[in-house]
Amino acid sequence: MPEFFHVASTSDVPDPGKSLVEVDGEMIALFHVAETFYAIDDVCTHDGGPLVDGELQGYTIACPRHGAKFDIRTGAALSMPAIRPTLAHDVKVENGDIFVRLREAGSGPTGSGPSANSATSSQQTATPSSFFPAQTTDKQDPIPSPEENTQSQSLTSETLSEDIVRELLKQVKDPELFVNIIDLGLIYNVSFSAAPDNSKQNVSIDMTMTSPACPAGPQLIADTKRAVNTHEDVEDVEVRIVMEPPWTPDRMTDDGRDQLGIF
Ligand code: FES
Repeated sequence: MPEFFHVASTSDVPDPGKSLVEVDGEMIALFHVAETFYAIDDVCTHDGGPLVDGELQGYTIACPRHGAKFDIRTGAALSMPAIRPTLAHDVKVENGDIFVRLREAGSGPTGSGPSANSATSSQQTATPSSFFPAQTTDKQDPIPSPEENTQSQSLTSETLSEDIVRELLKQVKDPELFVNIIDLGLIYNVSFSAAPDNSKQNVSIDMTMTSPACPAGPQLIADTKRAVNTHEDVEDVEVRIVMEPPWTPDRMTDDGRDQLGIF
């Protein structure tokens, strides 16, 4: 079993407060809330941003880059754009000194609950209650339902416009979040130009991603082209990925927030 490493004295971290510490070569965010210490990886699972510089409110730390929130007690991802937990570690306090033992992803609880870890204790250990799975939502099937198919078929013959393109793009869902790219706020701009040699239109779409390294990017681009190409007046579809301005959760629609349980 990994060993505990001394990281700080209890007086080094105000209550409430946070500090960045190094444990066996790993950068760890150490928190002090209500006389109890917690430790999680200083890594936001959305795009790898550091967490310790974020705003601490109660037991929640907000990533300073795009606002994802994590529970400092368990590492659980509480809000978009993060959907995976960051890793929580064991903490113990002995005679005014704080020790952290690194845990590995997927390891179960090994000790007493977080409430046992108090700055006033002489020798007590806290263990993350669990390594939470991805944020739970009422996930929907990414494949369009028969009703959605019927609706999109009627859209394909309506006069081509930005509104129609955006309606068609509601069929395209993020494969991890199961929310469509319109409600996620990923579509920045839609423009048209006349196709040479016929009466159809070329459509140009500026789309962003929730992170530059979004693994779903190629699939979202392909699905976007496919959805818009179903319109009878479309000759070609160009999708440009733009990262400026960066995506933030406040670009989501109320429907998107409802689907992800964000209020
Ligand atoms: S890197 Fe943390 S929310 Fe994007």
